[in-house]
Amino acid sequence: MANTASIEIEGKKYDFPLVKGTENEVAIDITKLRGSTGGVITIDPGYKNTGSCESAITFLDGEKGILRYRGYSIEELAEKADFLEVAYLLIFGDLPTKEQSEKFHNDIKAEAVVDEDVHKILDAFPKSAHPMGVLSSLTAALTAFNPSSVDVSSEEDMYKSVVRILGKFPVLVAWTMRKKSGLPLDYGNKNLGYVENILKMMFKVPNEEYTQNPILVNALDKLLILHADHEQNCSTSTVRITGSSHAGLFVSLAAGISALWGPLHGGANQAVLEMLEAIKTDGGDTKKYMAKAKDKNDPFRLMGFGHRVYKNFDPRAKIIKKAADEVLGDLGVEDPILGIAKGLEKEALEDQYFVDRKLYPNVDFYSGIIYRAMGIPTDMFTVMFALGRLPGWIAHWREMRLRKEPIGRPRQIYIGATERKFVPMEER
Ligand code: SDX
Repeated sequence: MANTASIEIEGKKYDFPLVKGTENEVAIDITKLRGSTGGVITIDPGYKNTGSCESAITFLDGEKGILRYRGYSIEELAEKADFLEVAYLLIFGDLPTKEQSEKFHNDIKAEAVVDEDVHKILDAFPKSAHPMGVLSSLTAALTAFNPSSVDVSSEEDMYKSVVRILGKFPVLVAWTMRKKSGLPLDYGNKNLGYVENILKMMFKVPNEEYTQNPILVNALDKLLILHADHEQNCSTSTVRITGSSHAGLFVSLAAGISALWGPLHGGANQAVLEMLEAIKTDGGDTKKYMAKAKDKNDPFRLMGFGHRVYKNFDPRAKIIKKAADEVLGDLGVEDPILGIAKGLEKEALEDQYFVDRKLYPNVDFYSGIIYRAMGIPTDMFTVMFALGRLPGWIAHWREMRLRKEPIGRPRQIYIGATERKFVPMEER
């Protein structure tokens, strides 16, 4: 393949270099396009054809259904690693040694306490507040209690910020859930593993001993790994562009949480359960919802289906679907919702509309069924997605700053009124 691309504009030819990645992806480098053509730019709503950066964190191939974190397949990591190992891998680039892993976990434990005044911010929210709004606010508020912004040139300073947020974020997640349930806040236990501690902070009731259930621990650990990163998705791109103005790590993460909340993105896992519940209430009439999803006049979409990149099965959906069977079986939970989900999947995969558009179940289609079996409320599902995605967001924020990327500021094509004179009020 030649290493340049030629574009002809009004009879004049312009050559631009091609950039090739380690997985043979190719991009046209248009950094000099506007300057060399006297102002011509590209336009690509939703950035469906546009790369925002070069990144070494995650590779995915939507046609082949491949997902790898720093070169390791999601299948291997979900089976053989634990969430903190994967967090270390995503953020620092390699799987940790035993010593690095122990130090990482101990340093995170040392940070797993949140300033008591955060309590007052939490108390100010009504119980009806959506947990994602609470979590985004509390995460941004952490800046007030940890004001020193990250000196990215200092490995030590960066490391300290990473373990600080990995320690405090699970507390905010658990407190967000307990706020809704009216349970007193739980402060965790340093003698527990990372995921065990999250479950204890979420579920321990004051007048009972909390007994760990290894089925729940393994299920949550796997779900967090599967959600840990996904290259330049909407929320990660939000974290990167927010951080590109040199805004702090915590507020960049708060911006990512807000972007993830949308039902077209991470909010889909909550929307999937609401859709499946509606189908169940409707007597399991999946055909009605399939028809709605295909009706151009109906804004309804089959939640948990389709993906910007995967035009084949989302490899995470395959793993989660299998885990849903295992977890519900191990817990002895009979949930008709799982049957409805499988029926809907079968129908969609045989329907020409979905086949033509290459719409397959994505990561959000089955995850909520496991969260529900674990006793997590539906409006907390996207908070669990954020808990998993945290290390990916941190990794991308760190990569963007270490690569000294410029502030993100897209151009536009103006389609509004051309110049006109001001009209005094009495003449309008
Ligand atoms: C996540 O980017 C990531 O990596 C995200 C994520 C991550 O890990 O960070 O993987 C997590 O966000 C997964 C996606 C969760 N969202 C949903 O499940 C919501 C339902 N899905 C869609 O809204 C949609 O599929 C998107 C938003 C996920 C992708 O939309 P695109 O790529 O912009 O595709 P599109 O809207 O242009 O759709 C192409 C066609 C259209 O039909 P035509 O106009 O060509 O006739 O497919 C149709 C769409 O109407 N379509 C659907 C559909 N998804 C697309 N029709 C019905 N139901 C759907 N779910």
